[in-house]
Amino acid sequence: MSGLPDRSVNIGRLHLKNPIMTASGTFGYAEEYATFVDLNLLGAIVVKSITLKPRVGSYPHRSTEVASGLLATIGLQNVGIERFLQDKLPFFESIQTPLIVNIGGESIEEYVSLARSIDQQARVHGIELNVSCPNVRRGGMHFGVDPEVLRELVSQVRQVTGKVVIVKLSPMVTDIRPLAEICQRQGADAVSLINAPIGMAVDIKTRRSRLGKNLTGGLTGPAIKPIALYCVWRVCRAVDLPVIGIGGISCLEDAFEFFIAGACAVQVGTWNFINPRITQDIIEGLERYMVEHHIKNLSELRGTSAEQVPKVR
Ligand SMILES: Cc1cc2nc3c(=O)[nH]c(=O)nc-3n(C[C@H](O)[C@H](O)[C@H](O)COP(=O)(O)O)c2cc1C
Repeated sequence: MSGLPDRSVNIGRLHLKNPIMTASGTFGYAEEYATFVDLNLLGAIVVKSITLKPRVGSYPHRSTEVASGLLATIGLQNVGIERFLQDKLPFFESIQTPLIVNIGGESIEEYVSLARSIDQQARVHGIELNVSCPNVRRGGMHFGVDPEVLRELVSQVRQVTGKVVIVKLSPMVTDIRPLAEICQRQGADAVSLINAPIGMAVDIKTRRSRLGKNLTGGLTGPAIKPIALYCVWRVCRAVDLPVIGIGGISCLEDAFEFFIAGACAVQVGTWNFINPRITQDIIEGLERYMVEHHIKNLSELRGTSAEQVPKVR
């Protein structure tokens, strides 16, 4: 036995050697990052949302920097499931890290069809449902904000796949807990949160949106970390599922905040654009920290936030 701390975590039946994952849409199809990061060190890789058909995505302007964050509207640009399986998946045969494929759709049938295709791929370990996609049958309302639709979606996907199913929740709801409870009841293995809340930025000279015709975009980066932590903390107290924290993680200390709030793993997103090696830096830092502080495994940190409400004098 090596005296090294145990950084491993379980997400359903999936065993990860450490809790640091990539966030969908910020790590391409992983090969783009192979020169920066030893991909075999990662806990898991989550790839860009895949849809049934290829998508060209939004018009320019697609992104703009805002205070402590990024406002972006990529419009689910991706190669589509067929090309993903043919051209992108073979790359993963050269690495061992578990692969989670994030999927998006315009109808429940599309999600189910994608889940069926992915279920046949031995190299894929899990499916993450991006439920922040517009549901065309409900006038564009996102799947993840309507409890009935979410229930049906998770239930139907669960029926067609034995892979680990992770539901990625949006913070754009009054209370995120009932949605996480639905995921648990319908057999999801985990929930990940948060997807990007929607925001706006205005160019005061032109009096137009800084995202051009797209008008709005998802807000990501450190600006959303407090919201993400709050959502994670609430969901961890509502469900008995592994919770994967996402939102504004830029260093090891940020990841610790999520573990202390109750997350069992985290995904790193926007910060990959600033430091493409950030995932590896966090993983190496985590091991050093655990050794220095005599932490044998991550459960010693998980969910240890103080919860007392301060007394009003
Ligand atoms: C450029 C960009 C593209 C994204 N694309 C997707 C996507 O395709 N599917 C998805 O579920 N989330 C997508 N996201 C959201 C991220 O996975 C993540 O939930 C969000 O960025 C918050 O994490 P962060 O603050 O660490 O970036 C995208 C985010 C960014 C910045």
